[in-house]
Amino acid sequence: LEKIIMDCDPGQDDAIALIMAAAASELKLLAVTTSAGNQTPDKTLNNAMRVLTLLNRSDVPVASGNQKPLLQELIIADDVHGKTGLDGAILPDPGFAPQKMPAVQLIAEVLKREKKPVTLVVTGPMTNIALFLQIYPQLKTKIKQIVCMGGGMNYGNFTPVSEFNIAVDPEAAKIVFNAGIPLVMAGLDVTYQAQIYPAEIDRIRKIDNAVARSVAGQLDFYGTFYEQEKWGFKGIPLHDPCTIAWLLHPEYFEEQRWHVDVETRGELTRGQTVVDRWDLLHKPQNTSVLTKVDRTSFVELIVESIKKF
Ligand code: BDR
Ligand code: CA
Repeated sequence: LEKIIMDCDPGQDDAIALIMAAAASELKLLAVTTSAGNQTPDKTLNNAMRVLTLLNRSDVPVASGNQKPLLQELIIADDVHGKTGLDGAILPDPGFAPQKMPAVQLIAEVLKREKKPVTLVVTGPMTNIALFLQIYPQLKTKIKQIVCMGGGMNYGNFTPVSEFNIAVDPEAAKIVFNAGIPLVMAGLDVTYQAQIYPAEIDRIRKIDNAVARSVAGQLDFYGTFYEQEKWGFKGIPLHDPCTIAWLLHPEYFEEQRWHVDVETRGELTRGQTVVDRWDLLHKPQNTSVLTKVDRTSFVELIVESIKKF
């Protein structure tokens, strides 16, 4: 059993990652913390609680994270995720209250309580995790690994070279990548392969449960952004679910260990994840970069997860 804490900014694809985590008997979801990114912090918190309510998982403690990135102003992605951050989803109102403590404190309390190190799954900007590492350095050894959606080797989606989660808080990402904690990075190189096709969304729509109806609705909305011709995609990339899919089935992926750092000062390159493929810097290989995914198996895993509810 792999114990995990999810730090996320739901977000349609974050919500699907949450659904997969809750569905998997191999994973135990110890807590959910929310970051500001896809939408403002009040909305991402509310969305996480609504999704957990839909899943009947009000037992999972939820706490809200930092209101703003470490240095820059908050950037949101309402063009992608909509006014609520989770447009299109059919969801109940939150059936429980969030924790009064902030995200970093909830992470600390969970880690202190656990005997063995815990995996952090991060699918939003890394503000909370960076703050956590600054405030509770003594708890670093209680983090087994960080599995994140963020960055890219070859391109960005916010600027030509920076991916949204890193671009929202490059300073935080730099702290996390340099923390000496084993990292698994699902960047755009792999998440753009992790597409769900329209016919597969229809398969989800036909599953007769509330989670399936919610996911189909979300994907109808989320799809409108990725249907733009400029992407050249056949389907919709499901970025954040790659993290949970890797935890459950690493054999669906190809990965390579490289040194990765984050550019924070470049005029054109702020927020870029710089991947040292040829070991030119002779620095520790701090990151396992996911490079390929078996798309069909990945989608099948999502469909099967949804059927479990
Ligand atoms: C990432 O940014 C958000 O739009 C998604 O939820 C994902 O975490 C993709 O760049
Ligand atoms: Ca996200």
